[in-house]
Amino acid sequence: MEKFIAFEGLDGCGKTTQIKLFAASLKKAKKDFFLTREPGGTKLSERLREILVKKDNENFSSITELLIIYAARHEHLKKKMIPNLKKKIVLCDRFFYSTYCYQIFANDMPMSYLNFLHKNFAFNLLPDINILLQIDPKISIKRSLKIKNIENRFEKKSRNFHNKVSAGFNSICNKKNVLKFDGNIDINSLHRNIVDSINKKRFFNFLLPYAV
Ligand code: TYD
Repeated sequence: MEKFIAFEGLDGCGKTTQIKLFAASLKKAKKDFFLTREPGGTKLSERLREILVKKDNENFSSITELLIIYAARHEHLKKKMIPNLKKKIVLCDRFFYSTYCYQIFANDMPMSYLNFLHKNFAFNLLPDINILLQIDPKISIKRSLKIKNIENRFEKKSRNFHNKVSAGFNSICNKKNVLKFDGNIDINSLHRNIVDSINKKRFFNFLLPYAV
């Protein structure tokens, strides 16, 4: 199996830009990679994503939300991520810790639900490393509402919800498979910090170059 890297953080933290720069670094190093996202990554999972993120969808319960995420994740893992991991580095925009922060921590849902779903329907697969970009929740909501107009069911939730998601990310930042970064700095410096830190850890058996 190759390495599995997830990028995590609040909406608008810059992870989508950073994951693309990281992919460009891998390309420069001539390494094969598979770039994907959650919820999504397969036709069906992208359809489930639409249900989850579109603002005009009817409201549904937190349990329904969690189950839709796991239906999407199961498909994604089975059809795309696991087959790709056999020969390629996999980069995923959000994974397990997003579910932990958004569905479990922020909704006061029992952790046992997530553990059960992950163990039984997600092959208990966890990233080798989670790259966590930390920004102030106030900036997060401002930035992401500016960017999107359709996909914002989550962004439209209350300030209290976002503060809880942010507290969730803070609660995982010292775990051993989490590398945390200050997401408030400029794009290129942040990219370089991520690359430096991956190289310092000797995470790959090669040195990762900067993309820019
Ligand atoms: P994301 O892809 O980060 O949106 P973008 O990069 O376009 O800003 O995520 C979409 C939304 O899905 C985001 O608000 C968080 C939410 N989400 C969850 O609530 N739980 C999850 O497990 C995942 C993967 C995402």
